[in-house]
Amino acid sequence: MLTRIAYSSQATRDLALADLQGLLAEARERNGAAGIGGALVYVDGVFLQILEGESAALSALMDKIARDTRHREVTVFERSAIDKRAFAAWHMAYLTPGAEQVSAWAGLDAGVTIEALLADMRSNPQLLPRVLISIVEALADD
Ligand SMILES: Cc1cc2nc3c(=O)[nH]c(=O)nc-3n(C[C@H](O)[C@H](O)[C@H](O)COP(=O)(O)O)c2cc1C
Repeated sequence: MLTRIAYSSQATRDLALADLQGLLAEARERNGAAGIGGALVYVDGVFLQILEGESAALSALMDKIARDTRHREVTVFERSAIDKRAFAAWHMAYLTPGAEQVSAWAGLDAGVTIEALLADMRSNPQLLPRVLISIVEALADD
């Protein structure tokens, strides 16, 4: 079943750009082979990741991701069946927006911190799809 998972996590230390690029290169190659797409957003030490693919492949990947020591507090916001991929074109898109950009995507006031935004997402499940759609639009503009 085609499924989407969205989660947030906290980087365990300040990841160097080279580390992130390594992680991403590895993820792209594996995701391509597993038919998984999505986007990885890194902002102020917080990861937001959206993954789309077959349910079993996603479960296997999430098990690995949850055990990865490069981050902690892996919190799944959404796991749902989808009819169609939003991220069909991206094995793993990567963005490092500022917190202000993320607030704008979420339709919130500038100046909102990423922590406040995550708290909002936890209490308002509608927020994440909104951010997700804005990310797809931002990517499509590139
Ligand atoms: C924030 C974050 C996102 C990740 N995203 C992916 C991903 O999309 N695809 C992937 O294969 N690995 C991803 N990884 C890496 C996995 O956690 C894991 O290191 C990788 O799948 C290799 O696992 P293995 O050596 O046990 O096979 C991610 C790691 C982190 C910290």
